[in-house]
Amino acid sequence: MFPAARPRRLRSSATMRALVRETRLSPEAFVYPLFVRHGQGIRDEIESMPGNFHFSPDTLLEEVSAAREDGVRAVLLFGLPDKKDFTGSEAWSDDGAVQTSVRRIKAELDDVLVMTDVCLCEYTDHGHCGVVEDGDVLNDPTLELLASTATSHARAGADLVAPSDMMDGRVGAIRDALDTEGLSNTAILSYAAKYASAFYGPFREAAQSAPQFGDRRSYQMDPANADEALREVALDLDEGADMVMVKPALAYLDVIRRVKDCFEVPIAAYSVSGEFSMLAAAAEKGWLDGERTMLELLTSIKRAGADVILTYHARQAARLLHG
Ligand code: PBG
Repeated sequence: MFPAARPRRLRSSATMRALVRETRLSPEAFVYPLFVRHGQGIRDEIESMPGNFHFSPDTLLEEVSAAREDGVRAVLLFGLPDKKDFTGSEAWSDDGAVQTSVRRIKAELDDVLVMTDVCLCEYTDHGHCGVVEDGDVLNDPTLELLASTATSHARAGADLVAPSDMMDGRVGAIRDALDTEGLSNTAILSYAAKYASAFYGPFREAAQSAPQFGDRRSYQMDPANADEALREVALDLDEGADMVMVKPALAYLDVIRRVKDCFEVPIAAYSVSGEFSMLAAAAEKGWLDGERTMLELLTSIKRAGADVILTYHARQAARLLHG
């Protein structure tokens, strides 16, 4: 007798497939990363990331508003300073481009969740994520600078601060500093398992943050390690992280799944610049169907276990899903 089980029965129509679909993408889970600098009327396309721009606070507000219309309700802000210096001091300036933008967004679009990337590499002249001495990135002296940066973002009204530097102990230092300033409602999304990845290439052009000497392997994780990701996540949760992130996403789906299975907290995955640009380039050449591939990739990240997805495709995907 022919096998009684015929899996194709549940694939027979679009309605049937929708009925039994296990993973559903929702724009509510998307976070849209954006780059902001000082000035007015700026909307400069980032060459290596077509469709992404450097904004000034005014045009950024328009973009956030348009994204909100598309159904995207959370953004992650990266800042570019007017001037880089040795310690990255513009990172914690209350008048920085990020701080200014947070205030404007919260004043005008108060139902949009605003997250801020907390790091120094965009602000330092050497491009590293911390205090540098004799070619080394020093851990403990960096914590204070990160804490100052996070508190200035929180004072401006950020709902979540997201440290991406990978210094040891930074979540605890930031939590302490926030609580000391009475900012106990500001949440922390830690880039807990952040790998030293080649996929950040286009971002470093976007944020003008490539290290001027060496690389980030002494603080970001070795792509070969997954057990270590669980230790990083456990430490960050212990120090007070509210949400944890795995980054990048596509090449680390196994890590997302393991973190999801081990910890009962919201897991975020960052589909980084290189993932975006790789697809954009292939789609431009006509080698891949851009929209289908995008939704398939986002679905795979969700299926791997991500509750929240940070993606440069947020608007485009939200429009497709709503349409
Ligand atoms: C800052 C930071 C980086 C990214 C997010 N925060 C770059 C890096 O670590 O070099 C990468 C994001 C992306 O590639 O989209 N430390």
